[in-house]
Amino acid sequence: MSTGTIIAIAIPVLITLAAVVGFGSLRKKDAKGLGHMSRETRNRDAGALNQNLSGSNEARELEKSVAMERVSAGVAVPLPKVPEVWTPPDADAIGVSRRQFLNRSSITLMTLGLSVFGAANIAFLWPRPTAGFGSKVKIGTIDSVNTVINSSSPAVNFAYFSEAQTYLQPYPMDQATQASAEAVYKGATLAGIKQGYVALWQKCPHLGCKVPVCGTSQWFECPCHGSQYNRVGEKKVGPAPRGMDHFPVIIDGQNVIIDTGTVSLGAVIGTDTTGQGLEGPHCA
Ligand code: FES
Repeated sequence: MSTGTIIAIAIPVLITLAAVVGFGSLRKKDAKGLGHMSRETRNRDAGALNQNLSGSNEARELEKSVAMERVSAGVAVPLPKVPEVWTPPDADAIGVSRRQFLNRSSITLMTLGLSVFGAANIAFLWPRPTAGFGSKVKIGTIDSVNTVINSSSPAVNFAYFSEAQTYLQPYPMDQATQASAEAVYKGATLAGIKQGYVALWQKCPHLGCKVPVCGTSQWFECPCHGSQYNRVGEKKVGPAPRGMDHFPVIIDGQNVIIDTGTVSLGAVIGTDTTGQGLEGPHCA
């Protein structure tokens, strides 16, 4: 059975269980809260009744003698009062008691907590996309990708692959630049650099605008708040907190694959491994 099927069955079952537990407890607590005495109270009442029974004979004798004295003195003896029949209070007249309020609040909070916990688990187990952005996207063969890089238009030196929301930039392969890159980058980003590529996510690390390229300056220039990055995504100016974020580049045989489900944060401010300066007027 696939993960998707399991989740599709698990969601309604979890929701139904949470609803049954929540409403069941609510009704039970409400029923206990209206006109029902606790066990402690009933035990106390039973104790008091036993005490009264043991002393009732003496009391009855005392009452009888007092009544006889009164009769002999000519005082009218009042008839014993018939006790009122107890009727349970009307729930509507009482409204919501403090106990009911507390019970309902705790049940609601518990149900809410369980729902959030269940939703978080489902989100965690939800399968990642297996195609398109968010997964491993094959953008072409080495030859076809290099052809795009070498003939990218309108801004030469920037190769954009929309299916991966990525600029795949050639990384200078000279010794000094590679040594600088090794001092700054790690893991999958460094592995891609050693193969001659760096994959930059189009999303600006400041507030998420799509960063366009500038053919004249040969930098990335964000029009939203003015952050600018060199050709390999290292931040030059602006409010962005770091360079452009990276995706791992995977070379599988002749295929070039971008893993858009794994994002590495861009280089820290001040990083400049290529020494690329401004090559012309800004666009933004
Ligand atoms: S979103 Fe790019 S600089 Fe603010």
